Amino acid sequence: MRILGIESSCDETAAAVVQDGRQVLSNVIATSLEEHKLYGGVVPEIASRRHAESISGVVRQALADANCDMSGIDAIAVTYAPGLIGALLVGVNFAKGLSMATNTPLVPVHHLRSHVAANYITGDLQPPFLCLVVSGGHSHIVAVEDYTTYKVLGKTRDDAAGEALDKAGRTLGLPYPGGISIDKIAPTGDENAFAFPHPRLDTPYDFSFSGLKTAVINTVHRMEQKGETLPVADLAASFQKGVTDCLVEKLEKAATDYGYTSIALAGGVSANSRLRRETDRLCRQKGWQLHLPALKYCGDNGAMIAAQGYYQYIA
Ligand code: KG4
Ligand code: ZN
Repeated sequence: MRILGIESSCDETAAAVVQDGRQVLSNVIATSLEEHKLYGGVVPEIASRRHAESISGVVRQALADANCDMSGIDAIAVTYAPGLIGALLVGVNFAKGLSMATNTPLVPVHHLRSHVAANYITGDLQPPFLCLVVSGGHSHIVAVEDYTTYKVLGKTRDDAAGEALDKAGRTLGLPYPGGISIDKIAPTGDENAFAFPHPRLDTPYDFSFSGLKTAVINTVHRMEQKGETLPVADLAASFQKGVTDCLVEKLEKAATDYGYTSIALAGGVSANSRLRRETDRLCRQKGWQLHLPALKYCGDNGAMIAAQGYYQYIA
């Protein structure tokens, strides 16, 4: 069964054809990232306009790369939420039009469930497992009971991990997106140079990153006022340590309490090298099996939409 996946929730216009939920036949991504860099963050109106311009070409290319046309597609999967409303509308309306014109079933797919499904196209992961879903807008610990049944065990109370990294990156004068910039510069710094606060919450699997973010911003402002040179790499490394240690600690607690031994990461922040390394260390120590999405499927893409769409369609 071949599913055409369409994604337009943020700044990537993406389409892919995936066979039987696991085999990627094509994966095409157009991004307006460079334009957003000028503003230090995604400008929704610009993202929507670029989606409208690119979507026909991206879908056409995804079909061509998979060597098929719409007659070879069994269903169209499209991200319906969460995301920027104007951006989502472009993908959803394009998918609806294509579905009606070609008489092909339409499957609405939740963006975060699709991030989890990036693991299905990378390896042989099968539910049940515990997944840490960390992106620009969300930080969730999710029990994936089967391909369509999820239980959210914990989530962030304020900023998402990616959002906190992006904002800290901007404060440090690093290029957008800060998460990627911090990951790049952190290995040249001392991650123990600054001790940022580790929030203590009364709910065991929830996160909070706003205190950590404020701490780095206050540190930077204090040093600037004193005319001190900012140790950017040390600050970046220490902040990255703060964020990733919180994520791994809560993941460990949830897996232990609920008895999960199969663990996965998902979402844009799952590309972070320290998070991957520390989760790997934890899982080796505990004898748990770790699944990491391939780097090219961590960020937004159409293949993960098609993969999740496949499981929802057959369900
Ligand atoms: O999943 P994603 O592409 O889009 C959303 O659904 O939000 O995630 C984007 C987020 C951004 O905050 C970006 O800074 C972060 O993922 N990110 C990273 C890395 N690559 C992307 N954060 C840390 N380390 C990375 N290597
Ligand atoms: Zn995403």
